[in-house]
Formats: sequence, structure tokens, C-alpha cells
Amino acid sequence: MGETGSMTFAPRVLDPEPVTSLDAWLAAGGGRALEAARAVGGPAILDTLEASGLRGRGGAGFPTGMKWRSVAANLSPDVPATVVVNGAEGEPGSFKDRAILRANPYRVIEGGLIAAVTIGADRVVIAVKGAAVADGDRVRAAVAELTRAGWGGGITIEVLDGPGEYLFGEETALLEVLEGRPPFPRVTPPWRRGADELGDGPEGAPGAGGRDLAGPGDATPAPPALVNNVETMANVPAIVVEGAEWFRSVGTAESPGTVVCTVTGRTRRHGVAEVPMGTPLREVIDTVGGGPLTGRVVAVLSGVANPFLPADRLDTPLSYEDMVAAGSGLGAAGFIVFDQSSDLVAATTGVSRFLAVESCGQCTPCKQDGLTIAEHLDRISRSDATADDLAIVVDRLATVTDGARCFLATQHQLVVQSALDLFTDAVDRHVDGTAEPAPAELVAEIVDLVDDRAVIDVGHADKQPDWSDAAADSGQSPADQGE
Ligand SMILES: Cc1cc2nc3c(=O)[nH]c(=O)nc-3n(C[C@H](O)[C@H](O)[C@H](O)COP(=O)(O)O)c2cc1C
Ligand code: SF4
Repeated sequence: MGETGSMTFAPRVLDPEPVTSLDAWLAAGGGRALEAARAVGGPAILDTLEASGLRGRGGAGFPTGMKWRSVAANLSPDVPATVVVNGAEGEPGSFKDRAILRANPYRVIEGGLIAAVTIGADRVVIAVKGAAVADGDRVRAAVAELTRAGWGGGITIEVLDGPGEYLFGEETALLEVLEGRPPFPRVTPPWRRGADELGDGPEGAPGAGGRDLAGPGDATPAPPALVNNVETMANVPAIVVEGAEWFRSVGTAESPGTVVCTVTGRTRRHGVAEVPMGTPLREVIDTVGGGPLTGRVVAVLSGVANPFLPADRLDTPLSYEDMVAAGSGLGAAGFIVFDQSSDLVAATTGVSRFLAVESCGQCTPCKQDGLTIAEHLDRISRSDATADDLAIVVDRLATVTDGARCFLATQHQLVVQSALDLFTDAVDRHVDGTAEPAPAELVAEIVDLVDDRAVIDVGHADKQPDWSDAAADSGQSPADQGE
């Protein structure tokens, strides 16, 4: 049964006991969904998925059935499509995808194979970070077992080891990596033109920026790619076997099902747990995190993709619609908790630095305004600032998203603007020098979860804006290098 106090429910995607072999997965009912999908065919699966109301768990909550249908409607006449399972999980505060893959990689891969059968793809790629060696090896072993057992049935299953950059998780950047290029986001919707871009110049040619958008019905030889988050794919097998109504029996009308949450930051313990959508955030922080370390919770961040959620909105139910109505967003449900001992200006500076460093620089304002915001926030955080520093931050927040090709620049704007709006007193005390100086708090990816404690990538503090770990930054943005 699940961990929340208000209701008991059977976990659906995060297996309570690790499933360590294909035999164990078969004994638990694994394989039935794939068999059913092959028997009923793509159109029936699309109908079931749409009726279930499943929304993508990678952050944006995009309806999964609609996405699969778009891909299926835009297939290339010449080359089959690719299904990509996004296990990059670079979002600070999130560990749920690795928890799901560790607990049961077979469930996720079965979801990917059902996607491939449904849309007519001939390849499933599971994308993980290369640095997560043990996790990658576990997935590779499961892929080998499934392949030996003939689950592919003409569909190949591969594991892609990606770079450590945050942008690797952005789906168009992930498709660039799949084609052997750096993780620089594309302009093009990935389900129109995807992996194995055809007729696109020599290897190593410039990224996909500026490529034309292929509309529905356009004759293009380029095959589309379907990209879904690990947790999204993990939901698919049970939906196929149990049906849409069963899926909707838990959760809210607009956000059916469960959500796998990560709780880290200033809580007694850190952890990952699956709860019904609609569970209040406070309950998750108390049951999964054991409550705040000192005093009370003062604010929560859902990764670095949404505005801060202040303490007076802690009873917000966890759903896409409720979190937006509360002024924030559900994101990947990776909650970084701040308590009374936290300096929220230092935390904001940490987020700003992370996003400015991780920006690829294809869009100049995202990189340059982003770095300027981080630099002046750093002075404010150290109580070594004037009103001019704050004015510069406000000024650059207005332009950082200009011409932005991906959502990273907007994330920067949303998080920092929310801090300025919500924590005015704390910001003012840092600007006038009455607050204790506080260095930027480290905000970076979780690399492991050991003994109820998240291990944060401390090396990120030395990562330069040019993505090197050199002693000094070269001043060249990642996208400009090599030109
Ligand atoms: C900067 C950035 C980083 C992202 N990182 C991830 C990630 O690590 N994992 C993920 O699943 N989605 C990530 N996303 C979202 C993906 O672009 C994409 O929306 C998602 O993989 C789609 O799957 P879904 O529909 O199942 O949610 C990121 C988006 C942005 C803008
Ligand atoms: S918005 Fe930022 S991170 Fe996204 S493509 Fe542009 S420069 Fe790169």
C-alpha cells in the first residue's frame, strides 16, 4: 500500500519491492500488456490512452494520448519512427525516474515497447545519463534479458548514455544527442522531425536550430520521434491491462492517476514515494520527508522549473491544475523544501547560477542576461550590494527570455521573479546590508539517494558557464565553441 496517511492505495508505477529478473516480472503479470497491445492494435491503444487522461510526468503534463496520436499521424513514408524513453532526470530535486528504473526497469521498457507497437516505431531508446553507470548497467541488463526472450519482435531496444548537462533532458536536445551532437535544443517539434534527420548535411553539421517545421501532411522523409518521460511510460502497461476507468479511479479529473514525488532539502529525511494525485503537498513533506528540520516549512520549489510555493499554500493538492492555481506548477514533483533556517535569497541565487551555467547560449539573452542576473543576485545574497544591483536584476529579468528557443530562460525568469515578489523583506535586508551575508546555496542534480539522504552533485559548483571545469571561464558560451 502507498505511504500517504489520508488514503491507502496500491502503488502503480514505483514497485515497493525491486523486480530483479524478467521471470519475477512475468510472475507479477509483466508482458500481458504488450501482448494485449499487439493483439488489439494501435488505434485501440490510442483510444484507451486518451480516455485514461494520462499526462506526461516529465514536467509539462502534456496529454500522452494526444502526443502519441500526433506522432502516429505524422509518420514518414520511408523510415520508421523512434520511441525515446527520457530518463535523463537532470532536474534538481528529482530522483523519481531513477527510483522507478531501479525498482523495475521491465515495466518502463514494456511501456516503451507498447508505444512502439502503437505508433509503428521500429526502435526504442532508453536515454540515461552516462555518469549514472550502475543505473545504466541495470537497464542494459534488463534490455538484454528482454531481447533474448524475444520481446522486441522486430523492434530494437537500445540504451543511450547521455552527457551530464541539464539540457540533455530537454526533449529536442535529447534528440540532438541521439544524432551525435551536443545537447542544444531545436526549434522544431520533435514529433514532426526526429531522430535520424535525413538529408541534413554531414555529421557534426550545425544543430537543428533553424530547421523548417514540417507540418501535418507535409511530405518529409524524416521520421518522427516520440519522447516520453520514464514515469509516463511506466504508467502505460497497467492502463492497457486494467483500462482507462481503472486509471481514473485515483487522482483528480484533470490529473488522473498517481504521481511519484521526491522530497529533499531541509527535511528530516529525503525520499521518493508514489501518492495519488490530489494529495496535499504538506502531507507528502510530512510522510516522505518526516517534516521540516527546524521550525516550519517556509517555502518549496518544484525543481527549478516553477515559481516558489510559499508556506501559506502548503495545503495545495498535488495536481497540475491545483499547483498552477496556487501560483506554481507540479513540474516533475521534485520538491526542494526550505525551513526557517534557510536563506531564500541564497537559495534563489543558487537556482539562478545553476540555470545560467546550464544555458547553452544559442539565445544570447538567456546566457548573458542569465549570467548577469546570477552575478548581481550573488552580491545581494552576500549582503554586498546596492539598490543598483537589484535594479539590474529586475531589468535583465525582463529580457532574459527574448528569443528563447527552449523553456530554460522562462524557468530562470519565473523562479527569480517569484522570489522578488514573495520574499521582498529578505531581499531588502540583503540589499541594505542588515541580513547576514549568505553564499549561494548549491542547487544541482541529485546523483544518488543513499540511506534516506540525497547526494547532490557538489562538482557543479566548479562548472563554468562554458561547461568546462577549468579554473576560469573562457567567456565563450557552449554553443559558440568550435566556431
Ligand atoms: C531545460 C529542460 C530540462 C528538461 N529535463 C527533463 C528531464 O530530465 N526528464 C524529462 O523527462 N523531461 C525533461 N524535460 C521535459 C522534456 O522536454 C519533455 O517535455 C518530456 O520528456 C516529455 O515527456 P512527457 O510528455 O512524458 O512528460 C526538460 C525540459 C526542459 C525545458
Ligand atoms: S533558451 Fe537558453 S538553454 Fe534554451 S536553447 Fe536558448 S540559450 Fe539554450
